[in-house]
Amino acid sequence: MASMALFLLILLRSVSPVALRSFPFFPPSAARYSKASQFLNHEECPADDGFCGPSSFVHVAMTLDAHYLRGSIAAIHSILRHTACPDSIFFHFVAATGDEEIPITIRTVFPSIRFLSYRFSDSRIRGLISSSVRSALENPLNYARNYIADLLDPCIRRVIYLDSDVIVVDDIRQLWNSAAAAFSDNPSAAIAAPEYCNANFTRYFTSAFWNGPWKHTFNDRRRKSCYFNTGVMAMDLARWRENEYGLQIERWMEIQKQERIYDLGSLPPFLLVFAGEIEGLDHRWNQHGLGGDMVRGSCRDLHPGPASLLHWSGKGKPWERLDVGEACYIDYLWKMYDLYSPSLFPSFSSIFRGKLWEIALIQTFDW
Ligand SMILES: *[C@@H]1O[C@H](CO)[C@@H](O)[C@H](O)[C@H]1NC(C)=O
Repeated sequence: MASMALFLLILLRSVSPVALRSFPFFPPSAARYSKASQFLNHEECPADDGFCGPSSFVHVAMTLDAHYLRGSIAAIHSILRHTACPDSIFFHFVAATGDEEIPITIRTVFPSIRFLSYRFSDSRIRGLISSSVRSALENPLNYARNYIADLLDPCIRRVIYLDSDVIVVDDIRQLWNSAAAAFSDNPSAAIAAPEYCNANFTRYFTSAFWNGPWKHTFNDRRRKSCYFNTGVMAMDLARWRENEYGLQIERWMEIQKQERIYDLGSLPPFLLVFAGEIEGLDHRWNQHGLGGDMVRGSCRDLHPGPASLLHWSGKGKPWERLDVGEACYIDYLWKMYDLYSPSLFPSFSSIFRGKLWEIALIQTFDW
């Protein structure tokens, strides 16, 4: 554990300010985004029962890195715009070592959201990522979701993990509540996510896997083993910690290093541990694949049925396609949440908004 460092950005209105070092500079990335309007709770929202309280907060975890920052900001913006209780969302941002200024940028764009930020050192995961996976999936931050249960305070029992290439177009509290119902229906499930049982599950693993000593892995699962997308998951962190699922995932990654039992990156070890053991959620919470496949210029339509969360999984990201004038029609929906507004000469007022030196306080510790 010591290899991973956690830093808390205690910002303005989150928990008590333990912290210590003010950030000496204005992050250049902050000047490239407009500030979001302030989002306020409706009257019926739950009363604040504290960071660890059982009912007030919807906890949302996301990773942040320079490459996907524009997507993350749009995702956060979409969540805030569609929830009745934006002040009751508690974000947990995991940023890679070296990207420490990104949470400061988040603070300038969203001056009033509640969040903590955690630093993910990739030293632990580097040795576990096998060279066989394609390079786009090798970003160690892809594996940060394996460690959310370690990073977040043990008092946080449940979290929704979201990728950076999503937008949420319904109240995320509905997703939170359906996950809570799913977890209470099944006391052994640690993950709730939409499942896709029509996908050919066999092809997520190599013939070395299906012909090797692991071929019976899925035989005594609680339910049929189906594909699920790890970009949108509700996680029961208490059950995760109890069963040490992080170590189970690492064990499969060790096997992969020797034997090449799958071709993709961070997804297959999740399937190996959880397929057939998760609770299914409505498909409207992950309309995935909107990024299209590997072919340049390919656009995907929404799947039939309602959509509460749109996910540009796949190669094409909406911001990239918009920038080069090759947008798919669905990308214009994403654009409604985009706060990127690059300006060659950022104004002084934009630089000094937010009074960074007052709010950016940082504490770093190892564990
Ligand atoms: C699923 O994929 C495997 C491996 O690619 C293939 O052999 C099998 O025929 C496929 N099954 C179906 C039902 O398409």
